[in-house]
Amino acid sequence: MSASYEVRGPVAVITLNNPPVNGLGYATRKAAAEAVEQAENDPVVKAIVLTGAGKAFSGGADIREFGSPKALAEPNLLSLIARVESCTKPIIAAVHSVCMGGGLELALGCHYRVAAPGAKIALPEVKLGLLPGAGGTQRLPRALGVEPALNMIVSGEPVLSEQLAQVPGQVLFQKIIEGDLLEGAIAYALEVADKRPLPRVRELKASHPEAQAFFQFARNTVGAMSKNFPAPLRCLEAVAAAVNLKFDEGMRVEREGFAHLMHTPESKALRHAFFAERAASKIPDVPEDMPQRAIQKVAVIGAGTMGGGISMNFLNAGIPVVILEMKQEALERGVATIRKNYEAQVKKGKLKEDKYQQRMSLLSTTLSYDEIGDADMVIEAVFEDLAVKEQVFKKLDAVMKPGAILATNTSTLDVDKIAAFTQRPQDVIGTHFFSPANVMKLLEVVRGAKTAKDVLATVMALGKKIRKTCVVSGVCDGFIGNRMIEQYSRQAGFLLEEGCTPQQVDKAVEKFGFAMGPFRMGDLAGNDVGWYIRKRRYVEKPELRYSKTADLLCEMGRFGQKTGAGWYDYQPGKRDAIPSRTVVEMIEMHRAAQGITPRKISDEEIVQRLVFSLVNEAARILEEGIALRASDIDMVYLTGYGFPLWRGGPMCYADTVGLYNVVQAMKRFAKNPLDDAKFWEPAPLLARLAEQGKGFND
Ligand code: NAI
Repeated sequence: MSASYEVRGPVAVITLNNPPVNGLGYATRKAAAEAVEQAENDPVVKAIVLTGAGKAFSGGADIREFGSPKALAEPNLLSLIARVESCTKPIIAAVHSVCMGGGLELALGCHYRVAAPGAKIALPEVKLGLLPGAGGTQRLPRALGVEPALNMIVSGEPVLSEQLAQVPGQVLFQKIIEGDLLEGAIAYALEVADKRPLPRVRELKASHPEAQAFFQFARNTVGAMSKNFPAPLRCLEAVAAAVNLKFDEGMRVEREGFAHLMHTPESKALRHAFFAERAASKIPDVPEDMPQRAIQKVAVIGAGTMGGGISMNFLNAGIPVVILEMKQEALERGVATIRKNYEAQVKKGKLKEDKYQQRMSLLSTTLSYDEIGDADMVIEAVFEDLAVKEQVFKKLDAVMKPGAILATNTSTLDVDKIAAFTQRPQDVIGTHFFSPANVMKLLEVVRGAKTAKDVLATVMALGKKIRKTCVVSGVCDGFIGNRMIEQYSRQAGFLLEEGCTPQQVDKAVEKFGFAMGPFRMGDLAGNDVGWYIRKRRYVEKPELRYSKTADLLCEMGRFGQKTGAGWYDYQPGKRDAIPSRTVVEMIEMHRAAQGITPRKISDEEIVQRLVFSLVNEAARILEEGIALRASDIDMVYLTGYGFPLWRGGPMCYADTVGLYNVVQAMKRFAKNPLDDAKFWEPAPLLARLAEQGKGFND
């Protein structure tokens, strides 16, 4: 059943019923349209209440139908709304909880709308690079007023029903009903049952006293804010059409805008990211209803850079945390940093003082392992040294209660080796947070060879609770994200040797859309981190070639912002990257010593070498089963590495370019004697897909 019908006295009640949020899929639309028909033909019925069962009025179009012919099958959303609007008996939408996208458009097709307080009202289509395509851009400005409607449509953000009901002159909600919504809606239906003519939003006028000036102003602001995304401006033009044109002509503008946006790479990328985020939480061999372990208290070992940030995530979610350190000073320093971070938020007005105090009250510290044994989960964030990890995990094995989850935040060490330090490898897992851990969305959840399924399921759910985007990674050096970035950094080094300056590389990559180029990134994260890893590589994989420029930089003590100098110069207390003469000279001397004559390298080559190096390594990661799906890799890069959202992630981008073209480019790069020909051999999966004319995300 996807919509139910019942008659209460002279009022028919139609209830959308398609859990979880009454998405307006084909079956629901059909059932709703049939129910309207039934009510229209039932002589007893004088008025109709339309509402939603369970947790929503309606969350909008059924996302599972997106882009499929089903979305257009009659009755499609437009024809359902038209049927509702043309009904000869008044239809009252009884809105509660969630009323978004197509759900709001359907409500706007009703003759009246009443709402429970606290209902979240939105037209979020812009967040998928689209515009509301079932009359939302035409009816909302008529019902709510041009300015507030434009704000909602361009931002996609939800607004509470009671706030909207206070907008002067609005007819979006005739009434806010405290108490039983259905009873209130039926009472309202009886009140208006005999009123004629029936009010229809389409017959209203959307007007603005200074329409043209207002839209010009809005065009400038929206244009500046939405740089790489075409949807917000297209939304704006559709709303302008609601003011300037007749209803049906405005609907045509909306439809054209929708059809256009549907095919833009930006919307495809946003929709890809939307589905990718949902897909990432699914693990093929772990059922969704897997019983989970209860996590009511967390212990964190190490109060350094990561330990502090990790702790904040749990405090923010209301989960008590105890931090363990070796020395009292380290504890004090760690707690002071947490306080400083919260106080900055309080100062900016982002956090209320009482909330801050409440969070701090959940935090305790200790120097003794005896005091953490009752925690349900412990996350280790101590020095990146296997011997130190061994010491810690042996201790944890001895003190933690049975069934506690033992997690490591290691970024480069073997989680299986760490698990083997304990007698309970099934309880050990990697939780690879990104720095700053209280800010970055990404959490790589590293599944060890012996990690129990319920441990994995618990950590994935917990990750969601602390508002992270969780992506499962298998065990390998660098996991998904850092294993790929290592190849990207190697390419960045080769580019310097061959003729680029750091700023040229950074500029090209930033123009492509990355938040930061590789060298500014290195200066921020600390160039010593990569140096440390390379030293290990020189021993473990002597055949792998690296440009020596980064080592030379570190030998000069230029670790980045923290030492006041890195690939760029920095003025004390400032973060602006100033091109460095010293660095350029160092690179030139290095080239001369290697006998390299520099050449001019195009931005296109820079971007392709950097991005395709990610793609080639990612293809290997995918084939080895380290990542479960291509879209997981995209999520890692979108949420952890500043890859431009509007390009959908490296795999999505490669698909857009066409894998055949990607492979051709790699073959060209392989011919460059200063590059690494072996690396550029297309990964078998990539070669296969390219040959078959397929994409990673197909
Ligand atoms: P850090 O050096 O800032 O902090 C480590 C803390 O652990 C120090 O406060 C130290 O006193 C404490 N510690 C060391 N040995 C201990 C022991 N036996 N018992 C209790 N406390 C001990 O290091 P950071 O950057 O926080 O890194 C921690 C872990 O997180 C490492 O495994 C690192 O690879 C990983 N990681 C670091 C990232 C970063 O960007 N810094 C990103 C992702 C992971």
